[in-house]
Amino acid sequence: MTPLNLAILISGRGSNMEALLKAAAAPDYPAKPVLVLANRPDAKGLETAMDAGIPALAIDHKPYGKDREAFERAMDEALTEAGTEIIALAGFMRVLTPWFVNKWQGRMINIHPSLLPKYKGLDTHQRAIDAGDAEAGATVHWVSPGVDDGEIIQQASLPILPGDTADSLAARLLPIEHQLYPDALAKACAAIKARR
Ligand code: GRF
Repeated sequence: MTPLNLAILISGRGSNMEALLKAAAAPDYPAKPVLVLANRPDAKGLETAMDAGIPALAIDHKPYGKDREAFERAMDEALTEAGTEIIALAGFMRVLTPWFVNKWQGRMINIHPSLLPKYKGLDTHQRAIDAGDAEAGATVHWVSPGVDDGEIIQQASLPILPGDTADSLAARLLPIEHQLYPDALAKACAAIKARR
């Protein structure tokens, strides 16, 4: 099976990106990284990608000011030039416009640190703790125009322990995300291929 060309969009640390790059190093993995793109030139993940020999590029959103679409057009150009067939958002902290989402719909996935449909948006762990939930988790979903709203591909959960803080929960969840995302991305690739 020919792998799909994968672009990963990040804003910072990039540990999920790193997990995807590691998984994609296996010869039978269904995606091949062609580009890592960050909206912040200081994103630590850019270095990690370059160290792994993956083309890595920063497109700073700041010079575009309020013109989100102009920023996205610059990203879109880089993604198209790289031959991108599937996009994985991995800690990408910009809300995308309907123009970009529609252009890539069905070919773009995201990882969100909650058991969606619970806790869309930010502060997911604190909200789960405050609600007295017994468990938290992460969701990989297709990206649709609504924020954190697309069809769910796969989820993983963990118990919330007495004394847990948002930070302790995030730290325990992270290695679980690193298992979940490569699995879910493989499923997404299979779904795209099945549609062709
Ligand atoms: C992860 O918790 C992910 O679920 C969320 O942002 C965080 C990104 O971390 N969307 P990293 O940059 O992958 O280390």
